[in-house]
Amino acid sequence: MDDRRGSLAAVDATAVTAEATAAIAAAATADELEELRVRYLGRKSELKLALREVRDRETGMALNTARRAIEEALSAREVALASVPDEDPTFDPTLPGEPVPLGSLHLLTQLRRRIEDVFLGMGYTVYDGREVETVWHNFDALNQPEAHPSRDPRDTFYVDANTLLRTHTSPSQIRAMQKQAPPIYLVSLGRTYRRDPLDATHTPVFHQVEGLAVDRGITLADLRGTIELFTSAIFGRREVRMRTSFFPFTEPSVEFDITCYLCDGQGCSVCKHSGWIEMGGAGVVDPNVFEAVGYDPEEWQGFAFGLGIDRIALLRHGLPDLRLFWDNDLRMARQF
Ligand code: PHE
Repeated sequence: MDDRRGSLAAVDATAVTAEATAAIAAAATADELEELRVRYLGRKSELKLALREVRDRETGMALNTARRAIEEALSAREVALASVPDEDPTFDPTLPGEPVPLGSLHLLTQLRRRIEDVFLGMGYTVYDGREVETVWHNFDALNQPEAHPSRDPRDTFYVDANTLLRTHTSPSQIRAMQKQAPPIYLVSLGRTYRRDPLDATHTPVFHQVEGLAVDRGITLADLRGTIELFTSAIFGRREVRMRTSFFPFTEPSVEFDITCYLCDGQGCSVCKHSGWIEMGGAGVVDPNVFEAVGYDPEEWQGFAFGLGIDRIALLRHGLPDLRLFWDNDLRMARQF
């Protein structure tokens, strides 16, 4: 024992530290550094062997201080070496790299987000509805008569007798009202489905924006102001025109148009020389709808509107065919 202790005492921790740190500071490559790590801190290094055999506290502390100092020197040198640029003379880090192809959002997604932003700015919330709906939410609660032709399976995709792919975003109104008490200011955007034959102006899957405001004392004038703000934000300052129409879930009902964004009402091919572009449907929420969700129609009034996003994107960008949105042709996608 005694002679081993004697050999331990021979390890001069300060001297080892000085020698090791000097060598480490002079190391020029990662390989050299690794060799030094093995030499000074490896399993068979003087220091590690001494540490294994140590018996008294003082020697242990001295050896551990040396170990820590060497470890620190190693990591400092490692960092320093890593930041030395590659010496390879053929490598020029200032050359531009290979261009990485970047994707972009689909035009319809861009427009959808833009519309959401406009309404968020007006204090509306964005409500996510369902694409697979009950017949009750899609038709009954919206005051749709039993015999209405849009219920026909030739027009609507049914999953079973009580379930369908929503034909419009209006069932989102019902779901939102069932969930929360008024006042409500929401928009709901998403996919809608109708059994339309595929052509330049019809796709069986399309997109709508639904808006719903429920509060005390809401009138058609509020609807008009909201639509003016919204369409101006999307198309620039436009005039809005309302024409009387009919929807089972609104009374009175209107269809609204804006002055053509291209000719500003002068008449051109985009507006088919009428000066106006049809935007969508709207109206004052029918009391029967409020009754279906348990709101008191004497206390609450509201307006709702709905419009197709695809058609608007088509018009806004002068595109000839709705199917372009589905073809995944990169020549089209890259333009937006
Ligand atoms: N849901 C109607 C449609 O798809 C649009 C609409 C929404 C009309 C809200 C009035 C109020 O045509």
